[in-house]
Amino acid sequence: MTQVSRRIVFSGLGALGVAAALAGCAGSGDDTSEPKVSSGAELATTAEVPVGGGIILTDEKIVITQPTEGDFLAFTAVCTHQGLLVTSVEDGTIHCANHGSSYDAANGDATGGPASGPLASVDITVEDGKILAG
Ligand code: FES
Repeated sequence: MTQVSRRIVFSGLGALGVAAALAGCAGSGDDTSEPKVSSGAELATTAEVPVGGGIILTDEKIVITQPTEGDFLAFTAVCTHQGLLVTSVEDGTIHCANHGSSYDAANGDATGGPASGPLASVDITVEDGKILAG
């Protein structure tokens, strides 16, 4: 696996070119620990998160979504099925292609596949176009 300081899987409308450049490893097979980030740490910029889609921070194990314009949410990216990382966000759904689970990008609820429970919310704050942990 290529090591870079900050890996993001872009997903959703309008991000395909960036995704090709920055996606790196899609996260399948990563370890299963829960997200751990320091409060106040910058996770992403608002411009990086497509409306109706989202981004997956594979190092931080956090998925950030923007279900409607200006409404940013974050969840653990650790699938509740077998603990692998979710793989994409599109059309308001967080997908885990490992075994086909899906989650509502607006609240983290499991909506399909073998996942047994929702993705837990992660606290974020949005400040000056930046998405910060905590
Ligand atoms: S680990 Fe996500 S569907 Fe199995």
